[in-house]
Amino acid sequence: MQIEQSSSSRLRWVTFSTEDLPSEGADVVTGLKQTQKQLPARYFYDDRGSALFEQICDLPEYYPTRTEAAILEERALEIAQLTGMSDLIELGSGSSRKTRLLLEAYNRLYKTLQYCPIDVSAGLLRTTALNLLQQYPWLHLCGLAGTYEQALAELPPAKFGRRLLIFLGSTFGNFNEIEADRFLLQIRQALKPGEFFLLGVDLVKEISVLEAAYNDAQGITAEFNLNILQHLNHQFSGNFDLAQFEHFAFFNRAESQIEMHLRSLKNQTVRLDGLNLTISLNAGETIHTEISRKFHLPTLTEQLERCFLAPIKVWMDPNKWFGVLLCQRQCINAQECP
Ligand code: AVI
Repeated sequence: MQIEQSSSSRLRWVTFSTEDLPSEGADVVTGLKQTQKQLPARYFYDDRGSALFEQICDLPEYYPTRTEAAILEERALEIAQLTGMSDLIELGSGSSRKTRLLLEAYNRLYKTLQYCPIDVSAGLLRTTALNLLQQYPWLHLCGLAGTYEQALAELPPAKFGRRLLIFLGSTFGNFNEIEADRFLLQIRQALKPGEFFLLGVDLVKEISVLEAAYNDAQGITAEFNLNILQHLNHQFSGNFDLAQFEHFAFFNRAESQIEMHLRSLKNQTVRLDGLNLTISLNAGETIHTEISRKFHLPTLTEQLERCFLAPIKVWMDPNKWFGVLLCQRQCINAQECP
């Protein structure tokens, strides 16, 4: 179900209901009952977690944000030329920091633009939307407050030209292979043949560079990781003692992914009253909190092509640390494209 309200001719809201979402906490119970305990990465992002992630993006060791921004700064006009006049729709838009480069390029070429940011955080979405409307008098905005699944199932139709769906920041790397395939299928179903998908991904590189990015000297990533326990304490009346856990992140070469864990510093029992759950941890045992996959372009290209989202142009920084891929939705069969 969705509720729409318009407050100005340049602004439209779509708010998806939370009724049909899986009940909060069921995924925590399932994850913490596994032999290798795990937590869904979405619990990182309470207000403090989101603020810590913004700090991570500016850390000297965390190269992905600035590297991707540099590629977009150099290539935004080229992207706009390649897609032609299009509406921009962004998944997980957050503060839309890097997207401004694209908004400005599309405006330069086509003078008018509709931008649809999608984010689960309705508050952040609203603040960002109002800032953007104030900064860009030519912009039409349609904010979608909801999950990726909800928004992809009901994307607004194109207002000007075709649609370009944007997914930046290598958030795609936080999906495992099964989730990634499911996500690409949803993208394929949401787009019409000929429409575009812009994907930013972190690439495989020297282990020392990768591991430094998730073990920064100031300890902000450690704080971000530990904050997931604080979030659970708050949301589910828990008693995790953060001082009894340590941040642990390493590159798993076989899986081509950074893994973040929280390691228990002693034998301990933790209770989450709100979930009626008690768990025991041995000293040294870990809770797996996140994967961040690092991609090889040929393998990723194959996966995208399999999902009928063929890359038509790929840009990288001079070190080849990060890739931005412009993909185009292909026809699946003759019925779709007679
Ligand atoms: C959001 N995501 C792309 C980040 C990443 O690099 O996987 C999350 C993050 N975790 C620790 N540092 C940053």
